[in-house]
Amino acid sequence: MAGFIDDDIVVDLATLPEISMASPTTTAKTALITGASSGIGRALAACFAADGWNIVLAARGVAKLETLAAELAARHGITATVIGADLSSAEGASALHAEVERRGIVVDALVANAGAGTYGDIRDGDLAKDVAMIQLNTTSVVVLTRLVLAGLIARRGKILVTASTAAFQPCPHMAIYAATKAFVLSFCEALAEEISDTGVTVTALCPGPTATGFFDAAEMNASALVKGKRLPSSESVAAVGYRAMLKGRRVVVPGLMNNILVQSVRFTPRRVITRIVSIMARRV
Ligand SMILES: NC(=O)c1ccc[n+]([C@@H]2O[C@H](COP(=O)([O-])OP(=O)(O)OC[C@H]3O[C@@H](n4cnc5c(N)ncnc54)[C@H](OP(=O)(O)O)[C@@H]3O)[C@@H](O)[C@H]2O)c1
Repeated sequence: MAGFIDDDIVVDLATLPEISMASPTTTAKTALITGASSGIGRALAACFAADGWNIVLAARGVAKLETLAAELAARHGITATVIGADLSSAEGASALHAEVERRGIVVDALVANAGAGTYGDIRDGDLAKDVAMIQLNTTSVVVLTRLVLAGLIARRGKILVTASTAAFQPCPHMAIYAATKAFVLSFCEALAEEISDTGVTVTALCPGPTATGFFDAAEMNASALVKGKRLPSSESVAAVGYRAMLKGRRVVVPGLMNNILVQSVRFTPRRVITRIVSIMARRV
């Protein structure tokens, strides 16, 4: 695949080493992780905790976060803090940041992972739901990033944002979701370049379909993208993202097939790729 697939983004899920508890990468650093109550965010929280980071877990599901925080704190001897946040509201991201500051927590890594999807054609969609998703998937990511950026620059910190393979091309039947992820990917890559002289790295994690609660929440289980498919685990995807962040990679796509897919888009007319994705994402 050399020469065809960009080495920066190729990761083989089968060859991932374990996250080590014995040799922590860092001590007494703190990661703020959004969307940590389930799926990829929950697994990312476990990666950071296993590596010795203190963690601040944010989402709406505070009970789930409390259980996870207690479990990870006990297992890894780290500090785990829970903050309830609704990042689909206009003030959610700034309220979360204000609460982090109020508690005197210093953030060394921002993991902007919280996100949701909506499935179906634009003309049939629930507009209020779509607008809330745009807020959650894009505006809140920008606001949170902007609010912690000066502190991260002062500490040569890290930013990890969960985008998606949906970011690489238009996706009929999940058009607005894919557009939010295209926004996030573009934002991350541009920001990474802008601050490349500061020591802060920005990593966009771009998973393909992954076994989480995402498809239930998006009412998307009837899509050909996922129906009857065996999907990679959130743990394997999170481990790819965590390691890519440590290495300061800008874009990482877990899984060889996902990589082939995102690279093939570069050489295919957009109208053709849009038609193909429409078929891939159709209701079956
Ligand atoms: N699963 C996939 O196939 C896939 C593929 C590519 C990218 N992604 C991306 O991966 C990220 C994580 O999703 P997932 O697959 O792990 O799905 P998930 O299991 O549904 O997790 C989504 C997380 O986001 C949080 N969240 C949702 N709405 C929120 C809100 N209004 N305010 C704050 N937090 C909110 C959820 O917590 P609460 O409900 O407790 O608030 C949960 O912790 C998302 O950005 C998603 O777009 C997923």
